[in-house]
Amino acid sequence: MQLFKEGLVINPPSTNGTLTQPDSKLRARYHAVRNMSEQICRPLTPEDCVIQSMPDASPIRWHLAHTTWFFETFVLKPSRPGYSVYEPAFEYLFNSYYNQVGEQFPRSQRGLLSRPGMAEVMQYRQVVDHAIDELLEDEENGQLDELFAVLELGLHHEQQHQELMLTDVKHLFSCNPCSPVYRPRSDPHPAPLPPMDWMPGDEGVRWIGHDGEGFAYDNEGPRHEVLVQPHQLASRLVTCGEFLDFIDSGGYERPELWLSLGWQTVTQQAWRAPLYWQQHDGQWNHFTLAGREKLKPNEPVCHVSFFEADAYARWAGCRLPSEAEWELAAAENGDMVGATFAESQRFHPASAPSMDDGRLQQLFGDVWEWTASPYTPYPGYQAPEGAIGEYNGKFMCNQYVLRGGSCATSRSHIRATYRNFFPPEARWQFTGIRLAK
Ligand SMILES: [Fe+2]
Repeated sequence: MQLFKEGLVINPPSTNGTLTQPDSKLRARYHAVRNMSEQICRPLTPEDCVIQSMPDASPIRWHLAHTTWFFETFVLKPSRPGYSVYEPAFEYLFNSYYNQVGEQFPRSQRGLLSRPGMAEVMQYRQVVDHAIDELLEDEENGQLDELFAVLELGLHHEQQHQELMLTDVKHLFSCNPCSPVYRPRSDPHPAPLPPMDWMPGDEGVRWIGHDGEGFAYDNEGPRHEVLVQPHQLASRLVTCGEFLDFIDSGGYERPELWLSLGWQTVTQQAWRAPLYWQQHDGQWNHFTLAGREKLKPNEPVCHVSFFEADAYARWAGCRLPSEAEWELAAAENGDMVGATFAESQRFHPASAPSMDDGRLQQLFGDVWEWTASPYTPYPGYQAPEGAIGEYNGKFMCNQYVLRGGSCATSRSHIRATYRNFFPPEARWQFTGIRLAK
């Protein structure tokens, strides 16, 4: 096979063939998830797909190849004796962080790669999709149960990368003074902002963590008991208008509001507002995937770090919820009705609905909610054996848990027990604030 060949035609993945039980649902889901990645690329030019705008972000083309590498490495290679990888060099280029698989091309240099080009990456995707189709058609394969679990993991992995593709494109476009539009958006007429009510949370010795029904990442278990103190949660998210009050009252200039590391970051990075916010002639605007827009005060504040969320909460006389408090609330209130997920194609958080049904609003979708909980293993947690055990467990240090998903998360990817995690200074994800006290 010629290395990094170009000029190939991009075709939609094959969905031909007769589907048979028990794999038909999984196969349909496989193609739906894989198609979604390619749909995300549709508004982009080939040039958009090769740039890395900062070390934390990756080029879109890298995401497309890496998610394919995941299926090839963890599903096809172990299950197909004699399977020949599409291109041996890809094992180095598109391995993200799996040391037990092998060495990795440096993350911060992913934007230096002009080859393989988009056409070859799309060809790679097609070849692997075809091999997965063949695997799912092979009813004689005695390893199917175990393979299905890894295949399902691969689908959730790809959905995680779909969210990263959107947030990485947003960061990339924000660097462009022409303010490119990824997808135009029309907002409904703004409804009155509902008051921030305080709802008592579940307290006492309670159970949290995944119960084993359906898919979950390893870090969501084991289910275990926690002691939850009496507390209240805010009925909705903190808005841009409320965060502006924090800014206007000197929030970014008062060290007493900040954790020491947070204040150090504010000083070093010269933070004066959330990421993507700018002030011109006294008016605030922010960059969105629909281009640069005037700030709308009723929309949830977004692209704040843990440090900013924590400082805002202290300024407001409150605190951030613990992940146990959040999960118990989500188990009770979390029907996801009306939540803004990636399927809406808004890719921007929506204002809280003005009707008050006595339930917590915006728990799912819109923005990931920072919690006060450090990302640590649940009691009894053990990472799975082998390279796949590197997926979550080795990151349980110096990060905080976020809950609920965002406007860039697929609805089928999220659940009440889902534990996302980012370092406290990270701002380029759709991250916001719910208060607790
Ligand atoms: Fe990954």
